[in-house]
Amino acid sequence: MKQIIAIYPGSFDPVTNGHLDLINRGRKLFDHLIVAIARNPDKGDSLFTLEERMEMLKAMTSELENVTVDAFEGLLMRYCVRKSANAVLRGIRAVSDYEFELQMALMNRKIEPGVETVFMMPAEKYSYLSSRIVREIASFGGPLTGLVPELVEEHLRRRLAEKRGTMIGIPTK
Ligand code: PNS
Repeated sequence: MKQIIAIYPGSFDPVTNGHLDLINRGRKLFDHLIVAIARNPDKGDSLFTLEERMEMLKAMTSELENVTVDAFEGLLMRYCVRKSANAVLRGIRAVSDYEFELQMALMNRKIEPGVETVFMMPAEKYSYLSSRIVREIASFGGPLTGLVPELVEEHLRRRLAEKRGTMIGIPTK
């Protein structure tokens, strides 16, 4: 029987509980799920390096046997072909996500008609959650409980303390 290999692409800067919710849903649907972190040259303002994002995602998914974590550069569809993937998983939280996701899914289909985009909804409690909002709350010292795993919260606090130290000229090492 044909194996369904799906790619779950994203920036994951950092991974949130919403991403993990989607990974857990996706891994029940697909034979293999590859969480693929984009090395996105457009987004030069990442809080975490690709290696740090990878380390956090690997730690959070190590127990999930049909899930692997990888990174890619360039076009997602080329990466899908290299991985023999037949599906892309994306999360839709609210109507506001739809327009961008539709555009991306249709463009990806034009590039590679053999790869289907599958949309899944995270649990309602994560429908307002995004990496951007997590970074913003963290930068103001706000509460992150329930939004990201503890390990990610620690990484966030450390990174933001380092950034503050750099800004006021305190050496961090
Ligand atoms: O988490 P994000 O930032 O919403 O993820 C966006 C991502 C990485 C999935 C998207 O930017 C992407 O696929 N980038 C790879 C380059 C590419 O294939 N672009 C054409 C998309 S139509």
